[in-house]
Amino acid sequence: MQTDSSFTFVLFGGTGDLSMRKILPALYEAHRAGMLEASGKIVAVARHADDRDGYLQWVNEHVKAHVSKNGIDENAWQSFLERIEYVKLDLGKAEDFVKLRDAVQDLPGTRVFYLATGPSLFVPICRALASVGLNENARIVLEKPLGYDLRSSNAINDAVGEIFAEGQIYRIDHYLGKEPVQNLLALRFGNALFEPLWRREWVESIQITIAEELGVEARGDFYDNTGALRDMVQNHLLQLLSIVAMEPPHSMDSDSVRDEKLRVLRALKPIDPRDISKVAVRGQYHAGVIRGTSVPAYATEPGVKTDSATETFVALKVEIENWRWAGVPFFLRTGKRLADRVAEIVVNFRAVPHSALGSSALRPGANRLVIRLQPNETIRLYCLAKKPGEGMNLSSVHLDLAFDQFFKEGQMEAYQRLLLDVIHGRLALFVRRDEQEAAWKWVEPILNEWAASGKPKPYAAGTWGPAAASAMLAQHDTCWLEEEN
Ligand code: BG6
Repeated sequence: MQTDSSFTFVLFGGTGDLSMRKILPALYEAHRAGMLEASGKIVAVARHADDRDGYLQWVNEHVKAHVSKNGIDENAWQSFLERIEYVKLDLGKAEDFVKLRDAVQDLPGTRVFYLATGPSLFVPICRALASVGLNENARIVLEKPLGYDLRSSNAINDAVGEIFAEGQIYRIDHYLGKEPVQNLLALRFGNALFEPLWRREWVESIQITIAEELGVEARGDFYDNTGALRDMVQNHLLQLLSIVAMEPPHSMDSDSVRDEKLRVLRALKPIDPRDISKVAVRGQYHAGVIRGTSVPAYATEPGVKTDSATETFVALKVEIENWRWAGVPFFLRTGKRLADRVAEIVVNFRAVPHSALGSSALRPGANRLVIRLQPNETIRLYCLAKKPGEGMNLSSVHLDLAFDQFFKEGQMEAYQRLLLDVIHGRLALFVRRDEQEAAWKWVEPILNEWAASGKPKPYAAGTWGPAAASAMLAQHDTCWLEEEN
C-alpha cells in the first residue's frame, strides 16, 4: 500500500536512545509495509557521526536490534537505509542550520521536524529553524516531557507558538497511538451497545493501571528529577482517562476529539491539598525480586540521590464533575518495578438491582469490561452464566475480542501509527496545548504538596506497591483487579 504523501522527515537527536529504540524502527516498519511514499526522505541530524557513512554504520549497529518481532527483511532494510541522509549539526552554530536548510530545501513533500531531544532544546531548535525559514509549511513533533510543571510547559509552548501555529505542532503521547486505545474508541462510538451503560447509573468504578517491571534503567538522573506523577500521570494516565470518560465526539476530526477530551480534563475534581493523603498514594521501590531475579533499590540506581524522595509509584482516586460521571471513582495507578508488566482499563459495572438468582448475582465485578493495552492486546467482557448441572449456580464467564483471530493484519506499533499520522497531517492523536495545560493544572497541587512534605512509602520491588494503595480502594469497598479471588 504505497501512499501519495511524500515527506522529508528531519530527525533531531538522530543518535539518541529514542531514535534508536522507537523512531527509526517505526519508520523501518512503515517502509517495509509499503506505507511510506517512495520518494520520502529521512534526514538524521546529530553531532556524533561525521558523515552519512558513519551514521549508517551507527544505525546498523544500534537500530537493527530494536526492529520487529519478525526479524529484519534484508532487502527492505537496505532500501530503508537508502532513504536516510545525514547532517552533522552543532545546535549552537547558526551556520549549521544554513547547512541543514541547503540539505533539505530540494527534498520532496511535507517537511516534518521531529525533536527527539531534551525539552530544554525545543525552543533553541525552533528559533534556529525559523532563522533559516524552515518553519514555513512544516510540522514539528515534540516529545514528552514538555516541561516540568505548568510554568515551564507554558514557557515552551509560548515560545514554540511564536514560530509554529498550533495546527503545525504535534505533541506526542505514545499511549494514544496504541491499538487498543483506538479500539476503545471503536467500541464506544461504533456500537450502540455500550454507550447507554457508560455512565454513573451503571458504572461502579473504573481502574486504569500502567504497571512496569522495569526500573529506571539508564535514566536515573532524569527520572530522579521527574518522578512517576510527571512521567506517567500528567500525560499517559490522564490521556487514557480522558478517552475513557469523554462524550461522543461529533466526528473523529482532530478538534472534535480533542475538544471532548479537554472537557473531561477541565471537569476533574480539583484536589484539595488537605485531602491528598486520602486520594493519593506515592511509593518508592526498595530492593526486591522480580521473576526470580534480585533487583536493587531505587535509591541505589545510578544517577539517583541516595536520600531521594522521588516517587516511583502513584495511585490516585480521581473524580469527574459532570452529569455522566459524578460520584464514580476513577482509580489510576502506575509504578516501576511492580509485580507484572501490564497496562489495562477496568470498567466495573454495578450489580443487578435485585437478584432472583441468589447472592452470587450481586457480587461486585460480575459485569466488567477489561481493556488490556499490553502485553497482549485484548478486550474482555465478564458476565455471569449458569454453571452446567443441577440447580441455578452462577459462575463468571467472559467474552473475548481476540483481534488476531478476526483480522489477518498484524497490529501496528504506537510510534508507527503516530509517525504516519504526522506525515499525513492527522492531529487527532496528538495533545493540544489546552489539554496539556489542563492536565498540568490538575496535577500541580499534588506535586506541590509532595514537594513540601513527607516521603514516598517504601515498597519491595516485585510487589504491587505500598499497601496504602489497596487501603484507598478498600474505603470504597473495592480492590485492584489482581487482588480479587
Ligand atoms: C514513557 C516513560 O513515556 O513511557 C517511561 O517516560 C515508561 O518511564 C514508558 O517506561 C512506558 O511506555 P510503554 O509503552 O513501554 O508502556
